[in-house]
Amino acid sequence: MNHVLNEILLNMDLSGIRRFSEEANQVEGAIRLTIGEPMFDTPQSIKQAAIDALVANDTHYPFAQGLLSLRKACCEFEKKTQDLDYEPSEVIITQGATGGLFTAINAICRPTDEVIILLPAFTIYKPIVEFADAIPVLVDISEDDFQINEQKLRSYITPKTKAIIVNSPNNPSGINLSRQSNDILEKIVKEHDLYVLCDDVYNQLIFEETDFLVRRKSIRKNIIYIQSFSKPYAMTGWRVGYVMADQPVATEIAKVQSYGTSGVPPFIQQAAIAALSTDVSDMLVQYESNMILVSELLTKRGIPFVKPQGAFYLLVDISQCNMDSWTFARKLLHTEKVAVIPGEVFGTLMDRYVRTSLATDIKISLPAFDKIADFIVNNRQTVE
Ligand SMILES: Cc1ncc(COP(=O)(O)O)c(C=O)c1O
Repeated sequence: MNHVLNEILLNMDLSGIRRFSEEANQVEGAIRLTIGEPMFDTPQSIKQAAIDALVANDTHYPFAQGLLSLRKACCEFEKKTQDLDYEPSEVIITQGATGGLFTAINAICRPTDEVIILLPAFTIYKPIVEFADAIPVLVDISEDDFQINEQKLRSYITPKTKAIIVNSPNNPSGINLSRQSNDILEKIVKEHDLYVLCDDVYNQLIFEETDFLVRRKSIRKNIIYIQSFSKPYAMTGWRVGYVMADQPVATEIAKVQSYGTSGVPPFIQQAAIAALSTDVSDMLVQYESNMILVSELLTKRGIPFVKPQGAFYLLVDISQCNMDSWTFARKLLHTEKVAVIPGEVFGTLMDRYVRTSLATDIKISLPAFDKIADFIVNNRQTVE
C-alpha cells in the first residue's frame, strides 16, 4: 500500500514504560516493581454490582455522556470529599483517566496550541497532546523540589499557551503540589485565562493532608478535573473514570466522548456507582505501610530517594552510580532480577532516578529493595 499514514503516529514511540516492561518480561523470575497497578483485586461488592447489571440486561447502548445515576453519584462524592460543586450535566464518564485526558485535550486544543506539561510526568500526556496536533511544552520542575517556580513557569507562557496539565500526587515522584505552588498556578491560570487539567487520580492515596488546585473556586471555569476508578478501587482493567468541567467546556467534552467512543458500557458504570460507596481505606493503609517500610530500609542502607507524600511510587536516586537510568535499569534487571522503570522516560532531568512501585506485596518487594540497595552500593563511584 502506498497510502501515507498519519505522520503524527509515525513519529511517535511506544511509551518508555511499555518498552522497558517488555524487556523485563523476557527475564524469567524477575521481580517487577515497574507497573502502576494496585496489588489488590477489585472488591467483591463492586464486581457483584456489574454481575447484577449484566443479569438485569443492562447491556444496551449507554447514554454517551454517562448514566445520570453515576454522574449524580460522582457529584455527591466530590462534594463530600473535595467540597466541589458540579452538576451532573457537567460530568462526563470516560474510559479511565486516559480517556478523560484524551477527550478533554481534543475538546480544547486546536492545531499549534501549546500545552504545558510539568515534568516529571506520566508518559501519556505528550502523545495525547500531539494526537490533537497541539504542541507539548515541557517544563521540568524536578530541580525545584517538584514545586512550581513562578519565574520559570512564566518564561514558558506564550500567546499560544492554551492549557497546563497538573498531576498531584505525582506519578512518578509521589510529591504533592504545595499550597504555594497552587497559589502560583491559580494566579497564572487566571491572568492568562488558561485551562488547567487537574489529573488527580491519586488524590485518595495521600500520606499527609495537602492542598488541591481543583478546589480553587476563582478558576472554576478554567479547571478540567480528571478522575479515575483505576487506582483507589483496584479497577485498572474496567477502564472507567470521569471528567468534571464548567458547563460550556463539559458540553464540548461530551461531544468528543460521544463521537469517539459512544460511552462506557452500562454494567461497568453500575460497578462504578458501587465503587463510590465502597470503603477502600484498608488498601490505602497498606500502600502507606509499604511506603514506610521501604523508606526505612533505604534510609538504613544509606540510599537516597524521594520520600513520597502520596500515590504508590518511589523514586530511588541513582546519581552516585554514574550510569544513565536505562543502563542502570538493564544491569539491575540482568544481575539482580529486579525490574524498575528508568527515570528518563518521565523527563530528561529524571535520568538520575529510577521509579519503583510500592503497590506490590511487601514480602516480595522488600527483598527486591534490598537488592537495589546492594546494587547501588556495589556500583557507587566515589567522588575524589
Ligand atoms: C497520573 C496518571 N494519570 C492517569 C493515569 C491513567 O489512569 P487510567 O487507568 O484511569 O486510564 C495514570 C495511570 O497510571 C496515572 O498514573
